[in-house]
Amino acid sequence: MHAWLCSNPTGVDALEWKELPTPEPGPGQVRVRIHAASLNFPDLLIVQNKYQIKPPLPFVPGAEYAGVVEAVGAGVTQLQAGQRVACLSGTGGFATHTLAPAALCLPLPEHFPFEEAAAFIMTYATSHHALLDRGQLRAGETVLVLGAAGGVGTAAIQIAKAAGARVIAAASSAAKCALCERLGADATIDYGTQDLRERLKALTEGKGPDVIYDPVGGDLAEPALRSIAWRGRYLVVGFAAGPIPALPLNLPLLKGASIVGVFWGEYARREPQANAAMLRELLAWHGQGRIRPVIDATLPMAELKNAYARMTARAVQGKLVLVNPV
Ligand SMILES: NC(=O)c1ccc[n+]([C@@H]2O[C@H](COP(=O)([O-])OP(=O)(O)OC[C@H]3O[C@@H](n4cnc5c(N)ncnc54)[C@H](OP(=O)(O)O)[C@@H]3O)[C@@H](O)[C@H]2O)c1
Repeated sequence: MHAWLCSNPTGVDALEWKELPTPEPGPGQVRVRIHAASLNFPDLLIVQNKYQIKPPLPFVPGAEYAGVVEAVGAGVTQLQAGQRVACLSGTGGFATHTLAPAALCLPLPEHFPFEEAAAFIMTYATSHHALLDRGQLRAGETVLVLGAAGGVGTAAIQIAKAAGARVIAAASSAAKCALCERLGADATIDYGTQDLRERLKALTEGKGPDVIYDPVGGDLAEPALRSIAWRGRYLVVGFAAGPIPALPLNLPLLKGASIVGVFWGEYARREPQANAAMLRELLAWHGQGRIRPVIDATLPMAELKNAYARMTARAVQGKLVLVNPV
């Protein structure tokens, strides 16, 4: 097998494509032959030692991937060799093969393409948990999605529309806003050129959005929170812009609003049955064509560093997927 190895977590440049012995699965594990892996924002943080999870060195990055089970370890009864799966195990995906805990593998319906399956769990589970569970978004409400053309953002647009909400999608360029419109956003704000607060006022008749989905943070957070509706819910999803905002607490007081934290990975660990039910619902929605991962480009696995460079430059719309030769 081959894998991108991180022996020194100082950044993307230190990753090396290495030949390694193909491992045998231990108890509770399966070996997956990886067809496709997607790039998520935490994959960028983990190779710089900036992610909350710091794997022992050396490790293979790549949180999320899809492929075929090749071998099963002792005690694994729910999966068999030959089965198609998607998996979000945190590491191991930027490789030709990996060992994965069987419990983290999601069996795939027959017609679910590997490229889409590799770009599915993280973004859709995060956005479903954020909007519908933590945010209690209801049909007819208005949701503002920041960073709306990114990985979790594109999923949030689709899930909010599937839930019957009105979506205002905000992103940093006209091209990104055009993508959001194609995904069903009812209105867009190009915060590269437009004033967020003014546009929100105009688009909501001064009322503000009921729910704000924020995976960006930085300078957008405070003006967004200042615009929130009475009884609004501000979802803290991530800080792609870098700085963690410090928000004045008089703002939620004045609007009777809530600032709500979202940590999907911890939710999946602490509430596995609820998470499994949510994943079943997401698979059903995919089967019905209500949601579909937005894939910006599919690149050969060898071009991982190029994929990282595009993400760092904010040049990705939806998701980048790395594939192995069949
Ligand atoms: N809480 C959770 O459970 C959870 C789960 C998954 C991900 N996350 C977090 O959600 C955030 C987004 O993840 P993602 O996978 O959707 O990432 P992504 O695809 O790269 O999207 C992030 C978006 O943030 C915006 N952005 C603003 N400043 C940026 C900068 N300096 N560098 C990169 N992007 C910047 C970009 O949109 P514009 O150019 O339009 O501004 C970009 O499209 C990350 O912080 C990630 O850690 C949280």
